[in-house]
Amino acid sequence: MHWMDVKMVRAKMEDVNSTNATWSNQEPGLPSASVAKRALAIIGGDKSVEPYYKGWHEAQSNAYDAMVNPGGCIQLGLSENKLSLDLLEQWFSTHNTAPAPEFEDTLNFKAIAGYPDVYHGLLVFRKLIAKFMDEVYGGVVTFNPEKMVVTTGATSAIEILAFCLADPGDVFLVPAPYYPGFDRDINFRSQVDLVPVPGLSENEFSITRAGLEQVFDESENRGKKVKAILMTSPSNPLGKTYSKDELLMILDFVREKGIHLICDEIYAGSVFGTSEFVSIAELVLAPPFEPSQVHVIYGLSKILGIPGFRVGLLYTWNDQVLDAAKRLTRFTSVPTLTQQILVSLLSDRQFLHSYLSENQKRLRARWNTVKHALQEAGLPFIPCTAGFYCWVNIGQTVGVTSKEQEHNLWRKLLYEVGVNVTLGSACQCTEPGWFRLCFAFVDDKTMAVALDRIKKFCYSVRQNGRCL
Ligand SMILES: Cc1ncc(COP(=O)(O)O)c(C=O)c1O
Repeated sequence: MHWMDVKMVRAKMEDVNSTNATWSNQEPGLPSASVAKRALAIIGGDKSVEPYYKGWHEAQSNAYDAMVNPGGCIQLGLSENKLSLDLLEQWFSTHNTAPAPEFEDTLNFKAIAGYPDVYHGLLVFRKLIAKFMDEVYGGVVTFNPEKMVVTTGATSAIEILAFCLADPGDVFLVPAPYYPGFDRDINFRSQVDLVPVPGLSENEFSITRAGLEQVFDESENRGKKVKAILMTSPSNPLGKTYSKDELLMILDFVREKGIHLICDEIYAGSVFGTSEFVSIAELVLAPPFEPSQVHVIYGLSKILGIPGFRVGLLYTWNDQVLDAAKRLTRFTSVPTLTQQILVSLLSDRQFLHSYLSENQKRLRARWNTVKHALQEAGLPFIPCTAGFYCWVNIGQTVGVTSKEQEHNLWRKLLYEVGVNVTLGSACQCTEPGWFRLCFAFVDDKTMAVALDRIKKFCYSVRQNGRCL
């Protein structure tokens, strides 16, 4: 989204603010109870992300099933990892999740039934997550449970950071294309604005110093206070890692500008290609950087494929943020029962070790299948080495040159071809025609049907000409 678009969205919100809209059945003549302007602003907010959520629901409500609904839609718009769920299912069906003797004192029924001592994750839970992260990060970083604030999913951790780092109307710069959920996480409650830093296909949508400088200056010239850069590493939706040099450039930028960096590393551990994952936590502790400017997001939703358990966290070297975030977890704490169950799982280091390597193998195999199909279909894509999705240009084949045409193509794919993919414009991509295709949500057979549908669509467009 360009700055002008951001302005239009805010103007739209102000419109909503100025109307005293209510949905009341109140008798005429009696005053009606209105809801808060900020709730109305959420309802009337940015429309570019709407198809992202709409596609999800369409694909879920008319879900493909080879036997029951063979004409249904296949969900390729959800970044969820179901490829290794059988391993976890088996673990849970063969293991007792009651507390082991060493945790009996802290996790017995009476202990977990009462108010917990702390809301940002029981110490035993944080210690085990830290150990799990050490393993996921390959031992190059050692995480300290005292700097960790556990929340109900990474979503809440991101939201808390927005609340702690910026005031309403301040700005976060976000390298685009970016994860569409950020608009909700950053803007809904904290009312911080996201300003995309446009990436270009010619350099695989890399983050450049010039791009950051330009958007930073434009924002400040408009009187906006830039408070942070928000990025995902590995990238969602690009499915790639960032090199040490790219990350050092970003650290230099935040240091020079005196702003924060939020690095969402929820896909650490999902690297299956040859590229190396470098954590920001590995770099920030060395001079000349100031660790208190950097905050890491992590969680169990992606790598373990358990987003329904709602476990995420923020990791910060900033004592003020740590203190405020801990207090805010009173609103967003992980239930102690969930913590108790996961303590059992996280204690089984041997299982987790083999799970991680098997999951990596399965992701790699799935991506290879998808890659070959995209090549057969003649669709350009960004080489993918991490995550559960890839970034594909479907629009070029069809002759898409505008956001409107991209939207029409997305509708065609959803309602006629029978696949739900994420529009580039929902990720604030400035080049029309790009889509995110999530490949870890469905089983092998369903994936084959989806790829076949996409290939047939591309062949028919090539034979019959433009279809929009
Ligand atoms: C980059 C990124 N951060 C955060 C989330 C949300 O994670 P959670 O389900 O733990 O809230 C997602 C989910 O897709 C994501 O892709």
